[in-house]
Amino acid sequence: MLEVKNVSKVYGEGTAKVVALDNISLLVNEGDFTAVMGPSGSGKSTLLNIIGGLDHVSSGEVILDGQRIDSLDENALVDVRRGKIAYVFQQYHLIPSLTALENVLLPLTFGGANNNNRKALDILRRVGLEKRADHKPSQLSGGEQQRVAIARALVNDPSLILADEPTGNMDRKTGKEILALFHQLNKEGRSVVMVTHDPEIAGYAKEVVVLQDGRIVDKVNRKEGNKC
Ligand SMILES: Nc1ncnc2c1ncn2[C@@H]1O[C@H](COP(=O)(O)OP(=O)(O)O)[C@@H](O)[C@H]1O
Ligand SMILES: [Mg+2]
Repeated sequence: MLEVKNVSKVYGEGTAKVVALDNISLLVNEGDFTAVMGPSGSGKSTLLNIIGGLDHVSSGEVILDGQRIDSLDENALVDVRRGKIAYVFQQYHLIPSLTALENVLLPLTFGGANNNNRKALDILRRVGLEKRADHKPSQLSGGEQQRVAIARALVNDPSLILADEPTGNMDRKTGKEILALFHQLNKEGRSVVMVTHDPEIAGYAKEVVVLQDGRIVDKVNRKEGNKC
C-alpha cells in the first residue's frame, strides 16, 4: 500500500548541509507493523514525516495506493491523507483548551454534529476513555492524553497509522498499555509504522528497520509479531 523508493532528504546548503535520508527504500503492506529504530539524528522522524506528507523529499518517490504523493501540494495531500494516513506524536499535540471529545472531533470536518459526536464518543470508548470525554488534556495523565491522540487519529478510519515515539514520554507500564492498543489496531488490519527507541517495543513489530546516518543498515523480518 505504501512504497518509499530511493528517497533522499537533504536539509540546508554548503557547510550547513545535512543528509537526513540517503537513498531509502521501504515497502509497507496492508497489515504490516513496522518498527523504525536507530540513534538520535539517524533520520527516523524525517522518514515518518515524508511518509505522512509533512515534509517533502529532495529526490525519490513516495507512492500510496498506486498514487505518487511526493509531489502533491498541501491541499491535495490533505485530501489523500484523510482516511488513509493518521499521525500520532510523542508530545500528543492535543489542543489544551478543548476537551477530549472536542479534540477527537477536530478532524471530522464533514457530517452532522450529532452523528460526529456519537462517532467520537464511540472511539473514545474504544480507547477506554468514555468517562474522560469532558476532561481537558491538563486533567488527563500522559497515557490518557496519548489515548485521546490515538482516538483523534482513528476518527477518519485510516489504513495506515504513523507513530513517532508514541510511548517516549511514559513509564514502562503505561507504554505497554499504549503499545497493546496499537497491537490491537494492527490486528484489525491497520498498518502501523512506529518509531521507537525501545527494543522491547520493537520486539512486537513484524518488521524492524534500523536507520543510521539516514541509511537502512539492518532489517529484521518476522512472520508473526510476538504476542502482547
Ligand atoms: N528542519 C530541519 N532542518 C535542518 N536539519 C534537520 C531538520 N530536521 C531534521 N534535521 C536533521 O536531520 C537529521 C535527522 O533528523 P531526525 O529525522 O529528526 O532524526 P531522528 O528522528 O532519528 O532523531 C538530524 O541530523 C537533524 O539534525
Ligand atoms: Mg525523531
